[in-house]
Amino acid sequence: MRRHRLLLSLLLVAAAGTATAALPAQSAAARTATPLDRVIPAPASVRAGGSPYTIDGRTRIRVPGGSGEARQVAGYLAELLRPATGFGLPVTTREGRDGIVLRLGGRDAKGLGAEGYRLRSGGRSVTLTAARPAGLFHGVQTLRQLLPANVEKRTAQRGPWRIAGGTITDTPRYGYRGAMLDVSRHFFTVGQVKRYIDQLALYKINTLHLHLSDDQGWRIAIASWPNLTTYGGSTQVGGGPGGFYTKADYREIIRHAASRYLTVIPEIDMPGHTNAALASYAQLNCDGVAPPLYTGTKVGFSSLCVPKKQTYDFVDDVLRELAAMTPGRYLHIGGDEAHSTSHEDFVAFMDKVQPVVARYGKTVMGWHQLTGAHPVKGAVAQYWGYDATGPEERAQVADAARHGTRLVLSPADRAYLDMKYDPSTPLGLSWAGYVDTRRSYDWDPATYLPGVPARAVLGVEAPLWSETLSTSAHLEYMAFPRLPGIAELGWSPAATHDWDGYKERLAAQAPRWDALGIGYHRAPGVPWPAV
Ligand code: ACM
Repeated sequence: MRRHRLLLSLLLVAAAGTATAALPAQSAAARTATPLDRVIPAPASVRAGGSPYTIDGRTRIRVPGGSGEARQVAGYLAELLRPATGFGLPVTTREGRDGIVLRLGGRDAKGLGAEGYRLRSGGRSVTLTAARPAGLFHGVQTLRQLLPANVEKRTAQRGPWRIAGGTITDTPRYGYRGAMLDVSRHFFTVGQVKRYIDQLALYKINTLHLHLSDDQGWRIAIASWPNLTTYGGSTQVGGGPGGFYTKADYREIIRHAASRYLTVIPEIDMPGHTNAALASYAQLNCDGVAPPLYTGTKVGFSSLCVPKKQTYDFVDDVLRELAAMTPGRYLHIGGDEAHSTSHEDFVAFMDKVQPVVARYGKTVMGWHQLTGAHPVKGAVAQYWGYDATGPEERAQVADAARHGTRLVLSPADRAYLDMKYDPSTPLGLSWAGYVDTRRSYDWDPATYLPGVPARAVLGVEAPLWSETLSTSAHLEYMAFPRLPGIAELGWSPAATHDWDGYKERLAAQAPRWDALGIGYHRAPGVPWPAV
């Protein structure tokens, strides 16, 4: 019996050998293991040394005594690795010192926090340790980047699948590492949003902010106000068919995001950026007349009717339904560019609406114009100013931060992924200037806004506005290569910040994007490999 099994495995190994012999040869770069610090975001601490680990046909993925969540992460890893390696990579809860080991908790997990992980690689095994499943997941992203880019392909590729020896200990600098997608100016399907989520996860982004309503389209089903989607969601910039998420669609996005350890923050932008709602319900307008749907790209012309009671019935219904289908703690209520709302009305509106968010068990997030009203205790303001933002506005934000308002930083001339790289960029806008790859990366969230205490900064977010973007290819061209830089600002310690080193690590991502079908921009100033 034992003999037979041995013979069988010999035959299997031989067969595997024949199968891979037909595969294209790997480049020299892929044959030597990637150095442990050559990933994005840069790990907090790396100690290189010792033998590499090689994934082969006998490798098991072990989740010793694993919880359901740890097993799910193991399953995700197995599915990631199986197609290109061609190995079975069975997931087992059996203890063992060999293979890929995912370990949740225990002494080695001390100090790793909610999202940190440790990766130890040696001749017999590579072990990921974390205190929480999110840490295991982020560790898997590091493991993935340490393997040759071909591992991302969905057909069998030639190895070897080697991980350099040593130890990475890695925890994030900031707890909030976000990306925003504007699904209002152009609608993006559930499938397109999931694709973007998968790309965000590769760089340890943990928050997806969905801009669900604007002048050009209302994208989330609200049962008590059905015209919002059936009429208000029926178009987009340029007059295309628009679209919207049913509650089931939205839950599917949340489920997929959660499987990638991202939390969804829904935004209903108010009181401006509301033409789609105003067009859907005449009673929301001060004059009782619904304006036509809007498919242009101007901003600042719409406002909910602040003095009207119906406005607050509407807001209450929308936020109640939104809160009920959103597991995350934040509801984003916009508040930007309310140029058609008087200052008094803006303040009155925010005074009335912020408590509604709390009533439904959520925490207020808003664009930084919220600091010009009375941000409630616990509120988060998202700063989207840029170099031309006046000192009074900056001072107002800093003052709010000193008084307890926490900040997410999305400076438009650094973190806005929809800004053109340079004058020749065929997509995007340029109102905040051109944002090349270096400019996008080369700033420090802790010192960016003078007078803001470091503890007030929750993290960073890279918004992607879609006035000019309507396909996944468009999104990817604008996000890559800038998104990984914002992700690194959110995750990596300030001490690792160095453009010269970063641009080399960034260039090394390109074959991975090619393998994943991500059409990135070969931005100047980055030493991209030849194609
Ligand atoms: C914004 O870009 N209006 C937040």
